[in-house]
Amino acid sequence: MKLIFLGPPGAGKGTLAAKAVDILKLPHISTGAIFRSAIAAQSTLGLKVKAVIDAGKLVDDAATIELVKERLAQADAQAGYILDGFPRTIPQAEALSAFSSVDKVVNFDIPDSSVLERLGGRRVCRKCGANYHIVFNKPKNEKVCPACGGEIYTRDDDREEAVQKRLEVYRAQTAPLIDYYRKKGLLVDVDARPLVDEVVGNFKKALGL
Ligand code: AP5
Ligand code: MG
Ligand code: ZN
Repeated sequence: MKLIFLGPPGAGKGTLAAKAVDILKLPHISTGAIFRSAIAAQSTLGLKVKAVIDAGKLVDDAATIELVKERLAQADAQAGYILDGFPRTIPQAEALSAFSSVDKVVNFDIPDSSVLERLGGRRVCRKCGANYHIVFNKPKNEKVCPACGGEIYTRDDDREEAVQKRLEVYRAQTAPLIDYYRKKGLLVDVDARPLVDEVVGNFKKALGL
């Protein structure tokens, strides 16, 4: 199954993807995570995208499309994938349709107030990328990832100004994809407001699993 996770920043795409990986045995491909690894490694790509991402803006379409095209060509993605955070613009969606055929697009339905609450308290593991939250999913030791022992930090783009910018960018450039995929008959809406286990249930129901 080839799935796209579509939704505003902080909707819970990464969190649900981590659960869906266990359910569906598919690779989780997050463009944001790929960019963050590149930044950590100080690669050419990382150095190029750091300022753009920290400001809450989008990386250019051409570079992002190329990256995803290469990733989806790898062996582990042939039976299916969970694509989290791509496409994020109409040109990205058009480009994707030329190199892969998507089965379903999962739309994370959630109001801005919840998004702000989730991003305001998010913490992330620098090593494995696991998501935590200071209220909803608090690690025992606030500085150490219980999954891998990595350092827990706050993402640079979770600063308030960057979050506002990301929401603005989402509305202008990404939200139009909801209608785009609905018209193609691929969209399934998932109520992303409840706690994680219930969202997992909503997701399974929406996909008939
Ligand atoms: P990306 O990493 O994709 O960030 P995003 O879309 O802004 O989404 P987030 O990762 O912030 O949120 P999420 O929905 O995954 O929520 P999470 O599960 O963490 O992209 C980062 C940047 O990279 C972009 O801004 C852009 O610059 C660039 N980029 C990436 N893709 C690109 C593309 N295609 N084109 C161009 N540029 C691109 O959950 C959030 C918090 O809530 C966590 O703390 C979690 O523990 C908590 N939580 C989750 N679910 C629940 C729940 N049900 N109940 C309570 N708490 C919950
Ligand atoms: Mg994410
Ligand atoms: Zn970790």
